[in-house]
Amino acid sequence: EQIEKGGYDHFMMKEIYEQPNVIKDTYRGRLNANKGIVQMAGIEDNIEKFLNAERILIVACGTSWHAGLVAEYVIEEFARIPVEVEYASEFRYRNPIINKKDVVIAISQSGETADTMAAIKLAKENGAFVFGVCNVVGSSISRESHAGAYTHAGPEIGVASTKAFTTQITVLTMLALRLAKAKGTLSNSDYHRYLMELEIIPEKVKEVLSTNDITKEIALKFKDSTNCLYLGRGYNFPVALEGALKLKEISYIHAEGYPAAEMKHGPIALIDEQMPVIVIAPKQGHYDKIVSNIQEIKSRSGKIIAVVTKGDTQVRELSDYVIEIPETSDALSPLITTIPLQLLSYHIAVLRGCNVDQPRNLAKSVTVE
Ligand code: G6P
Repeated sequence: EQIEKGGYDHFMMKEIYEQPNVIKDTYRGRLNANKGIVQMAGIEDNIEKFLNAERILIVACGTSWHAGLVAEYVIEEFARIPVEVEYASEFRYRNPIINKKDVVIAISQSGETADTMAAIKLAKENGAFVFGVCNVVGSSISRESHAGAYTHAGPEIGVASTKAFTTQITVLTMLALRLAKAKGTLSNSDYHRYLMELEIIPEKVKEVLSTNDITKEIALKFKDSTNCLYLGRGYNFPVALEGALKLKEISYIHAEGYPAAEMKHGPIALIDEQMPVIVIAPKQGHYDKIVSNIQEIKSRSGKIIAVVTKGDTQVRELSDYVIEIPETSDALSPLITTIPLQLLSYHIAVLRGCNVDQPRNLAKSVTVE
């Protein structure tokens, strides 16, 4: 097992560090920024289904559901197709409206999650076209789907999902770009810019991984917290949810992810000097709005840990700790901003003596209801 961990103490850390490479594996042969190409066999063969779709329904559980939320933002923004994202377990039991012109995207790392599988079956019975985004090749969900795209992240052993999440986002962003190209919903220059940016994301992920030491120091300060709040807006709202889930899963600290502006409708009541608030505040995307959210936290003495773009001064001044990330456009930022949150959860869990790779009560793949 030590050999399998490749020199890391835990599979989770190994998998976090694999992200620059596996994101490349995910887009290899599918993305060529110089030639302006993004294509995936499962989409090319079925492009009409997507272009004729009145809406896209995304079904998933856990971390994969968070990837679905990011996909909602990116598909709607790039391809202008309405998207709804549902927990598979809710969808399957609520007698949902499903039309023949719906495309259902099922996202699942394992490809074996029982609720997601049941949601797919229901969608198929109602005539929808089902597209699977799975990591495990030949898994039940990939076989049950009409078509799909694999994430190529390689085996994920750590129960807390890391590289599966970023590669799911990579596939779904490529899907959004492919549909945008077909529909002409992005300008030529934006389309090419996003392709270029996606191609260099692995380098940026590598750069963020070098913040590991700072993140570890921050973890030392907050390892004994009992609660934690994660805030983000727009594309980084799902990242806030995922950051909170990661912390809960492996450190057993209660954590909540919230859209930053919603904070004033509840969670703000929890903020005092004991409360660490992790704010995802990159320069691109609602920056001024998030700065005022940070001011609201500061005036209530909350401890602010901010994820900021390199060179940021405004948020830095207001924050107790900052983690710097390279600049990237708003739509691609989840691939970058999620990394320090993975590292933070990891270090806090290790410092608390938790079993990082196999947290209590959790299973890697939930094959029963
Ligand atoms: C379990 C795992 C999570 C995962 C979720 C969905 O709860 O512990 O990490 O996100 O199932 O799994 P799937 O394989 O469908 O992505």
